[in-house]
Amino acid sequence: MPSTTLEATPQAVSMTNAKILMIDDEAAIRESIDTLLTLEGFTVSLAPDGPSGLDLIARNHYDLLLLDLALPGESGIDLLPRIKELRPALPVIMITAYGTVGNVVDAIHAGADNFVQKPWDNEKLLADIRSAIGRRKAEEEVIQLKRTLKQRYNFDNIVGKSDLMLRLFDTVAQVAPSRSTILIQGESGTGKELIAKAIHSNSPRRDKPFVPVNTGAVPSELLESTLFGHVKGAFTSAIASKKGLFEVANGGTLFLDEIGTMGMDMQAKILRVLQDRRFMHLGGTHEIQVDVRIVAATNVNLQQAVRDGRFREDLFYRLNVISLELPPLRSRREDIPLLATHFLRFYAEENGTGERTLSPDALRILMDYDWPGNVRELENAMERGVVLSTERNIPAELLPAQLTGSTYSASILDHRPDASLFDLMEEIERRIIADRLERCHWNQTEAAEFFKIPLSTLNQKIKRLNVEIRKRPRE
Ligand SMILES: Nc1ncnc2c1ncn2[C@@H]1O[C@H](COP(=O)(O)OP(=O)(O)OP(=O)(O)O)[C@@H](O)[C@H]1O
Ligand SMILES: [Mg+2]
Repeated sequence: MPSTTLEATPQAVSMTNAKILMIDDEAAIRESIDTLLTLEGFTVSLAPDGPSGLDLIARNHYDLLLLDLALPGESGIDLLPRIKELRPALPVIMITAYGTVGNVVDAIHAGADNFVQKPWDNEKLLADIRSAIGRRKAEEEVIQLKRTLKQRYNFDNIVGKSDLMLRLFDTVAQVAPSRSTILIQGESGTGKELIAKAIHSNSPRRDKPFVPVNTGAVPSELLESTLFGHVKGAFTSAIASKKGLFEVANGGTLFLDEIGTMGMDMQAKILRVLQDRRFMHLGGTHEIQVDVRIVAATNVNLQQAVRDGRFREDLFYRLNVISLELPPLRSRREDIPLLATHFLRFYAEENGTGERTLSPDALRILMDYDWPGNVRELENAMERGVVLSTERNIPAELLPAQLTGSTYSASILDHRPDASLFDLMEEIERRIIADRLERCHWNQTEAAEFFKIPLSTLNQKIKRLNVEIRKRPRE
């Protein structure tokens, strides 16, 4: 399945051909808005009153509505619920004559996105319009993308539009229907379990169980009975016989998570089951045959573990029939805004907060951060932002400290209580420079550009502050 059709899904219409409707009874206001917005490349429609405006909204698609609060007859606030009923997603900016604060609050409650006061500042109005349209487009893109992914792959809650992820989705769809064993590798929080579930739900086994087991977390003795089951009396506490997860997963998929940390003795036992899908209950006397698809996942480098003698080579080859590599989030940054929007929607709904979006500053920080905890770390940051923010736009200050860099000062103060202010400042400078260099893959020219200082100045600082230079190949 080529990924090109996915990319060809209706993307955000560019801002310039966005369509804006204005409902206002004053002809002079309509004209000035028409001139301003048309010059900026928007397509403008105008209506002098509620009924004609509603009629246009019912028959056309608009990207934004400018709605006068004080219309004759039915006011803008009276109209708003009916507009929202027709077009729940249409962003609305209210236009108010003067500081009618009470009415503005009502309007925001009735679903308006924002308001401007007459006489307005053109630049501010344009900025508000662009941000409301941009926000809506980002949300539409996520909805559309999820719909496409759902239709094409039966993926429920996976989003991604980077080439790396689209290629991975194609591979998942291609390999899911078979019974072949699949090994999923990737750093922590990259979505390995999510992909394992997607493999299951895209296979003919989707109506049978998907059984996850964290093979790294369960002690060896317990793991054996957990996976293979036991007969009554097999060991002291075995007061009744019990099925193992291989039987529970019969007909479906067994997800062996954290396989890289499984003990050597268990590895040998798993290998045997993988070879002939037969095993015995602990303490049992006859063999049991199961039809189970195995998906394994690890965040340690299994090949290295094999070289180090911590993982059986024969088991590695058994598991590695088909191998999927989940890329870290920092190597697919174009997925960051998409994932952020996806999580904001989810947590805003779960917490009943009303819509939440990121302030431009906050988004910039997300784009610049390296995400060692990958998608899980981003998800946690978005949940936190939704819960803590009292306004629709989540400000940068509500992002976790490790993103905004405010941990520098806190951790330094903790570790060097006796240092002078000068020493502390130097330490912070050293850390900021080291951090940036690492993010730039030790490319000093790139780092100097980021800091907006000459390369020679950066060079002197690196020497004076003794910044440790570690070379690392570019990914
Ligand atoms: N592409 C994605 N779209 C939407 N949500 C995602 C995506 N990737 C990961 N997530 C979410 O991020 C979180 C972490 O994903 P998951 O548990 O699958 O990662 P993992 O690789 O198994 O991590 P670990 O190695 O720590 O077990 C989950 O809540 C998951 O739903
Ligand atoms: Mg996991």
